Amino acid sequence: MASITASVYTSHVPAIGAALDLGKTHEPYWQKVFAGYEFSKQWLKDNRPDVIFLVYNDHANAFSLEIIPTFAIGTAAEFTPADEGWGPRPVPKVIGHPELASHIAQSVIQDDFDLTIVNRMDVDHGLTVPLSLMCGKTGAWPCPVIPFAVNVVQYPVPSGQRCFRLGQAIRRAIESYDEPLKVQVWGTGGMSHQLQGPRAGLINREFDNAFLDRLIADPEGLSRMPHIDYVREAGSEGIELVMWLIARGAMADVAGGRPPKVAHRFYHVPASNTAVGHLILENQR
Ligand code: DHB
Ligand code: FE
Repeated sequence: MASITASVYTSHVPAIGAALDLGKTHEPYWQKVFAGYEFSKQWLKDNRPDVIFLVYNDHANAFSLEIIPTFAIGTAAEFTPADEGWGPRPVPKVIGHPELASHIAQSVIQDDFDLTIVNRMDVDHGLTVPLSLMCGKTGAWPCPVIPFAVNVVQYPVPSGQRCFRLGQAIRRAIESYDEPLKVQVWGTGGMSHQLQGPRAGLINREFDNAFLDRLIADPEGLSRMPHIDYVREAGSEGIELVMWLIARGAMADVAGGRPPKVAHRFYHVPASNTAVGHLILENQR
């Protein structure tokens, strides 16, 4: 059977992608950001999964305001980087895993979560920047990726609790797939940031670090945090953090297994308008 070996959490700032693509990673400003991912790049080489299930949000690139799925699973064989206004990033296309994605859709929908099945979709910085941070510049991503898009852009957005429960359904789905694949679940977006209005530029280090503490040790309690607290404390775009609870809900301890090992933790301000947070949690056998 397939198993979930680890979960990875990281912010997805588009300027990080531009810094990498334009060769600015050694500039002092960016060096401090990328330094936090040196461990992670080696870790991913040492712990290469067969598939990455990547939870992220689209920023009105694949989905316009005409159709807004709350949860969308990419079942295609490949996904092309989206044109985000600066043009598509010069990164490899993303190879999917249609068989596992279809199995997950079947299992999770029968488990009472409504997913939109997407057979054709471009992927924006929400998906490609986390891959770049974890892999660096590369000619090919290390394994197939199943894109899982969550609406955190247009209200109403899903609650942390629903995301946490969905993560548990995703774990059940992956663990019932009849092939011994090692799967990592990544939760991306966040941390605190607000891009608009009078509070634009908001960063809340105290909230972010408490979120990381609770995500590790008390994800169930954290999942009950109401949506208004994200917006008040972490800013309007801080709501992206609910996606981290999907990945955390898929970890073994939530289903009665051992607590995960914290392999890596990093926090840095600033990167563009955002606080950068990053965690790697390993399931322990
Ligand atoms: C920024 C952050 C985001 O999450 C995003 O989607 C776009 C821009 C920023 O920090 O500039
Ligand atoms: Fe974003």
